[in-house]
Amino acid sequence: MILDVLRVAHGGVCVAHAPDGRVVFVRHALPGEQVRVAVTEERRAYLRADAVEVLRAAPARVVPPCPYAGPGRCGGCDWQHVSLEEQRRLKALVVQEQLKRLAGLDIDVVVEPVPGDDDGLGWRTRLRLAVGPDGRAGLRRCRSHEIEPIDDCLIAVPGADIPEVVGRSWPAGAEVNVDVSATGERALSIGTADRHVTERAACRDWQVPVGGFWQVHPGAADTLVAAVRDMLAPEPGERLLDLYAGVGLFAGALALAGVAVESNRRSARAAAANLADLPVNVVRAPVERWLAREHDGSPFDLVVLDPPRKGAWAEVVTAVARLRPRAIAYVACEPSALARDVRTFAEHGYRLASLRAFDLFPMTAHVESVALLQPLSS
Ligand SMILES: C[S@@+](CC[C@H](N)C(=O)[O-])C[C@H]1O[C@@H](n2cnc3c(N)ncnc32)[C@H](O)[C@@H]1O
Repeated sequence: MILDVLRVAHGGVCVAHAPDGRVVFVRHALPGEQVRVAVTEERRAYLRADAVEVLRAAPARVVPPCPYAGPGRCGGCDWQHVSLEEQRRLKALVVQEQLKRLAGLDIDVVVEPVPGDDDGLGWRTRLRLAVGPDGRAGLRRCRSHEIEPIDDCLIAVPGADIPEVVGRSWPAGAEVNVDVSATGERALSIGTADRHVTERAACRDWQVPVGGFWQVHPGAADTLVAAVRDMLAPEPGERLLDLYAGVGLFAGALALAGVAVESNRRSARAAAANLADLPVNVVRAPVERWLAREHDGSPFDLVVLDPPRKGAWAEVVTAVARLRPRAIAYVACEPSALARDVRTFAEHGYRLASLRAFDLFPMTAHVESVALLQPLSS
């Protein structure tokens, strides 16, 4: 089919219409382009397709820096064929559209680069490679279990030394985690490893379990901490509740008394060690259970909410709103989950007071947002 590409949609795709009227989600295309597509998936309501030939190119189209990007190839990046400036503009449109559609809010969004990131390459400090039957590690193709053999990955930090990793022989079917810390340590692991790397952010060192959560862009932790601090404007003596705390980044950076809640055993243990010098009680529990049954009712002035991709959902949002904090910083890697939860906050008396978005994952469709929620009355 030859299609006219209309607009960007969530997930690294653009929207076009097939001759039969069905929506087509096209990868490797840009709004305004005319492309020949190969259909990769057919459903009753929509199709998925790859642009395999560009008949009319958009001005923002570039030659992908990575030789493994393109139709049917590595699924790790979505926007290698797009200038960095346009990638950020498209991500801003996606965040804006989710807020409009799911929260009924009309706001302008700007996606800011991580300071110092000029080319969107060489940033990924955490990678998971899949091992094929031949024992060689590679990256998964898009929406597939197939493995794209690679010699290097241009978005990986140089210290990951991907050529060395893919040059080794690994157990067939395994997944290899590569963790590279800000202090230059590299850890290779299969499954869960009982080791740590040392990260550095917000003028502190952090023990992070190998394979455990830490922001993947080297500048991300400091960028998010600065945004959260600016939004919450903490005052001495205020109490902080850090939910989905990981190894304690926000509780440690804001250095207030309070509680940090994290369900992962290894991350919670690392958080307790990382925050040992602060009056922070680290609790290992699911956030929803702690809020519903374990919290002793003590008040909090400020809340940081940094859930996984699926978001916090109504139960957690409702319980957080009932604590009546003076400000909530919601850190979100999934704009649709953020928009849904912002709507729930509005139903419980909290309005979106400001929002910033950051390009923590250049070349991919991912975008991080930080939202400030305040009581309607403030
Ligand atoms: C996006 S990460 C944020 C971590 C941390 N705030 C940071 O910036 O490094 C989300 C964290 O939530 C944890 N998590 C996921 N589901 C949870 C739940 N139901 N209750 C508590 N923690 C959870 C994960 O283990 C992970 O550490």
